[in-house]
Amino acid sequence: AEPQDDYDLSKPLTATTGLRQGLTSYGDAHFSLFLRKVFIKAAGYGEDALSRPIIGIINTHSGFNPCHANVPQLMEAVKRGIHLHGGLAIDFPTISVHESFASPTSMYLRNLMSMDTEEMIKAQPVDAVVAIGGCDKTVPAQLMGGISANKPVLPLVTGPMMPGSHRGTRVGACTDCRSNWAAYRAGEIDMEDIAAVNDELAPTGGTCGVMGTASTMACITVALGLMPFDGASAAAVSSARLRIAEQTGANAVAVAAAKRLPQSILTKESFLNAITVLQAIGRSTNAVVHLMAIVNRHPDVAGSITLETFDEVGRKTPLLVDLKPSGDNYMTDFHHAGGMLALLHTIKPLLHLEARTINGKTLGEELEATPFKPFKYSSELIRPLSNPLYPESALVVLRGNLAPRGAVLKAAASKNRSLLTHTGRALVFKNTADMALRIDDPDLQATKDSVLVLQSVGPIGNPGMPEAGVIPIPRKLGAQGVKDMLRLSDGRMSGTAGGTIVLHISPESAIPDSVFGCVEDGDLIECDIEKRLLRLHVSDEELAHRIAIRSAAKKNEDHTTKKIRGNKRGYRGLYERCVNQAEEGADFDFLTAAGPN
Ligand code: FES
Ligand code: MG
Repeated sequence: AEPQDDYDLSKPLTATTGLRQGLTSYGDAHFSLFLRKVFIKAAGYGEDALSRPIIGIINTHSGFNPCHANVPQLMEAVKRGIHLHGGLAIDFPTISVHESFASPTSMYLRNLMSMDTEEMIKAQPVDAVVAIGGCDKTVPAQLMGGISANKPVLPLVTGPMMPGSHRGTRVGACTDCRSNWAAYRAGEIDMEDIAAVNDELAPTGGTCGVMGTASTMACITVALGLMPFDGASAAAVSSARLRIAEQTGANAVAVAAAKRLPQSILTKESFLNAITVLQAIGRSTNAVVHLMAIVNRHPDVAGSITLETFDEVGRKTPLLVDLKPSGDNYMTDFHHAGGMLALLHTIKPLLHLEARTINGKTLGEELEATPFKPFKYSSELIRPLSNPLYPESALVVLRGNLAPRGAVLKAAASKNRSLLTHTGRALVFKNTADMALRIDDPDLQATKDSVLVLQSVGPIGNPGMPEAGVIPIPRKLGAQGVKDMLRLSDGRMSGTAGGTIVLHISPESAIPDSVFGCVEDGDLIECDIEKRLLRLHVSDEELAHRIAIRSAAKKNEDHTTKKIRGNKRGYRGLYERCVNQAEEGADFDFLTAAGPN
């Protein structure tokens, strides 16, 4: 570009790339650009650099986010890729959210991070953005924000951590955090052991080393066509990870030039592929909530993918990938077995190969150009379609009077399959405090056939929808050897946990006419996986009666304690007023494609 053009008052400033994008309005566009140049030059950039397409890099490094510990090295590699291909790389920060350092929950902050991401992409003069994320909520937040901003966005994840080793056994966050803690609680290992394993559970930076939510979202991002095939699984500390970062920088320059926007790349078919991968890896129920939030940001796809779609895809898709928490292996093993490239080749007959990728080709063309030959180890970890780990529907969607708007069950994680079709008496905990108080009480009225019910952990009832859905087995039953029970809640569970656990029940109990909120001790509850049914055996009249009493009581209580939706200040108030239900993604209603313009 001719620099003097920028100051030629007789010519309008029409270009919309590089530094000329989204000029701050002073009523004089030339002056705005003049001023912008004053300040970008203060950062040390010359005219030559400023004449290039600008590729932003979203920096989510934080001292409180060890899952993003390698972001500085990744940024350096991304910048190299950008500069080698004629772009100008400029990084900028957004919120970073880590699972363990985000009170009350990381999920509470996901929507805030998505808003930050969207607004900073929109506000700043970038032709494309490389979004570096990794930890559970960050990738969903960046996809949500990126789709809404609808400028070219290239996700790059930080990658999984390495497994550690304790007394000759490999260990990794966070499945083994839970199993070791349970063993310590049960007195099976001592204090010295639990302290020693604490040193090894997360031995390097990077995301949790199992197929938890972070790894699931990384695989889904590949399935959506937005990240290179090896982008989901290369270890955070590997040189492969740096090469992927460099490649992403190079790709970003091409994507910027072609103006490939997320809303035009991503179609219904892209999301069907993502859901197929989710079912084939049999993973995190959290991904269902995240995917619904992402889908509902996309004006052309929202509405065409619902909770039902996950069930339909599940009926056709077997569970193929043998990783922790359900299997024995770690993400680095998945990488060595061929990772997403191997998996996508394996499930090719189930994929929509016409879906586009960020590189402008179709998924089918990309797979054709990158063949994969299975070998013994790869087919053990990534089973062929003819020899699955579980024939169909790792994740199922239940409905019935107890969950008119749906509930999610990870059938593949059940430890006692007879519970998948089970009728039992409800034992109700009103909230997490009630549960903590009574669950280990020796006088608790529970048998192995009881159905444990936890209320008030939905998006509104307990902002952030905590991962409290894994109701612990009551101690007295645990002592009798009971390992699994049918458990129901309107909350979530960690992608690294397991059991016969029904989650995301909607409408949640905090809503006055929620049937789930009306369940009482002793009610008969039926779960039937074949019929996809979740039913409360209480008459309609009795239910109407209970709902009337509850609604009146709630009105009263809200009036006296001022706890009605919307009376809180700040982000908490915004959250309670605007969060939608789990099957919609627990997003803010005003951020969805169906929301206000
Ligand atoms: Fe960050 Fe598990 S805590 S991915
Ligand atoms: Mg998690």
